[in-house]
Amino acid sequence: MDFQNLILSRRSIRKYTDAPIGRDKLKIMLEAAMAAPSAVAKDPWAFYAVRKRSVLNSMTEVLPHGKMLSRAAAAVLICGFPAKAHLGETGEPGYMLQDCSAAVENLILSAQGMGIGSVWLGVYPNRDRMEGLRDLFEIPENQTPLAVVSLGYPGESLTPRTRYREDRVVWVD
Ligand SMILES: Cc1cc2nc3c(=O)[nH]c(=O)nc-3n(C[C@H](O)[C@H](O)[C@H](O)COP(=O)(O)O)c2cc1C
Repeated sequence: MDFQNLILSRRSIRKYTDAPIGRDKLKIMLEAAMAAPSAVAKDPWAFYAVRKRSVLNSMTEVLPHGKMLSRAAAAVLICGFPAKAHLGETGEPGYMLQDCSAAVENLILSAQGMGIGSVWLGVYPNRDRMEGLRDLFEIPENQTPLAVVSLGYPGESLTPRTRYREDRVVWVD
């Protein structure tokens, strides 16, 4: 599949088979995540790669729209370091959110390239979800929980669709 088709065929997959995801595959995804653009290459991120069933189940209690985690083979929690990010002119959190969002998207596309389905689960800026994950993973105060990606081999097939809208584009030729 060429890269454009890989991007256009990605959908949020919320049903999974029972097939496990090995550490080797997770490491490939994490390497892709950490290859993302990052302002001044500050890489202000940390990743919690979760395959433990009991922890995946506990995550569903913190993430009200993340019930699919109870059937997921794995999940990755992305945290940002506000103080490590390039701070620009306005101070913390600087470019942390952009850097970490780019890493999440790289991770998701890497998974897609290996035939692994995923869903981006929102954490930041919901205080309950952030603090729930901080307690569950004992995340230090210098890190901010930002997002979770649920991962598993697809148990559903969603048709590719375009969301291209010409009215969102300003052509400056
Ligand atoms: C910041 C963010 C938060 C999201 N949070 C959730 C979530 O909590 N639960 C969920 O099932 N999907 C979540 N999604 C997935 C979106 O619902 C999904 O990407 C969107 O509907 C487009 O569908 P598609 O991914 O199949 O193209 C989130 C996506 C983003 C970018």
